[in-house]
Amino acid sequence: MSNLAWVNNQELNEDEFYNRTEEIANITALLNLTAQNNAPSILLTGIRNVGKTVFLNKIKKDLEKDFLVVYMDFSHAECYQKNNMNPMGLLEYYYKEIIDECKKRKLVNFEYSIRKYFKTNDFHIENIISLRNIPIPLINSEKNFEKLKDFVFNLPNEILKEYNDVIKGVIILIDEIQVIKELGEYLESFLWIFRSYSQKHNNVAYVLSGSMSLQDELIPKISSQNGAFGGRMLNIQLDPFSRETTRNYLNKNAPDLIFTEAAFDRFYKCTSGVPAYINIFGTLLPKNIELNEKMVIENFDKNISSIIFHLINLWSRLSHKEQNIFISLLEKPLKRKEIAECLGVTSGSLSLSLKKLQNLDLISLKDNKYSIDEKLLARWLKIEYEKYEVYPYIID
Ligand SMILES: Nc1ncnc2c1ncn2[C@@H]1O[C@H](COP(=O)(O)OP(=O)(O)OP(=O)(O)O)[C@@H](O)[C@H]1O
Ligand SMILES: [Mg+2]
Repeated sequence: MSNLAWVNNQELNEDEFYNRTEEIANITALLNLTAQNNAPSILLTGIRNVGKTVFLNKIKKDLEKDFLVVYMDFSHAECYQKNNMNPMGLLEYYYKEIIDECKKRKLVNFEYSIRKYFKTNDFHIENIISLRNIPIPLINSEKNFEKLKDFVFNLPNEILKEYNDVIKGVIILIDEIQVIKELGEYLESFLWIFRSYSQKHNNVAYVLSGSMSLQDELIPKISSQNGAFGGRMLNIQLDPFSRETTRNYLNKNAPDLIFTEAAFDRFYKCTSGVPAYINIFGTLLPKNIELNEKMVIENFDKNISSIIFHLINLWSRLSHKEQNIFISLLEKPLKRKEIAECLGVTSGSLSLSLKKLQNLDLISLKDNKYSIDEKLLARWLKIEYEKYEVYPYIID
């Protein structure tokens, strides 16, 4: 019986979660410093689907006995979901997640002390509404935003003061941090607010992560010397599984998959060692028969739309122009001028689309030429074209 995690799982159980021993040891050592008033700020990077979210949830489970660990996913904030990203909405989400976690952990006296805090800090109690039993101050002015910001970012510290007999510190894990780019003009100030509070509180650690390309301009904004965290941010990178790790993982969790040597090589090439692809492809392959290379290729092509379903989602959200740029690169890398010629547009009009495709890690620029990074998407497009003689989802 194989035991490969399904890909939409955000939390894996002990049997499903594989490897990452070194990264876990590193991040745990750093986060444990939180107990000694030396809380780190960490940026967790890694390509799409490599396992950042399940890694964060694993860390949460591991550290919960000593710390209050809050996991939040900024893309779940109501303001983001409603297409109205704004600092206030994000603060409210941040607040709600912290309180929810406190409730889960049964830090029960807390609501009382929040109300006290509101009073002593001059929020008017009648301005507080209840959201799923959590008091949320009703905000209506700039001045109140300042206060709420102060309140929300000081909250972990307040919790700690009250519960220092049961927790040694607070660890805030923020996933899908990249959505803060949609704060637009407020982005920089939001990051600076973050920094100022993270500097003030030595026992509140932050781990930021998300689906960001390593070329993403948000990364230097957060972690470079001139960025919001002023070079104090530590980086931990999750890489795809190596060939050997993939082999050991399948031996342990999918012993009924039998490969010839060449078939395994092909399997590794198809999945690039990305755990999500390994899991889906491994689940879809026939079991208990020896697979040769040809069978692996055939099965891969047959199942490619299931294996990369989330990339296809991404594809369908691209604009017509972005899709056409990607298609123009299927044969070979091109200069910007050549792409423009292919599309029959001016080179200048390509800037935004090229940037977007780079930010999504779909293409990259090397030696003045753009080339495709997301090889699986390219393969899917070619297969679709062979079948239907048109590329999918292009509506003119
Ligand atoms: N250590 C692991 N062991 C086994 N399977 C894993 C591991 N890491 C990731 N996976 C598999 O990959 C899937 C995707 O992982 P996850 O959602 O954490 O990726 P991600 O890096 O957060 O992706 P995104 O950038 O899209 O947010 C998981 O649901 C699981 O099936
Ligand atoms: Mg994720």
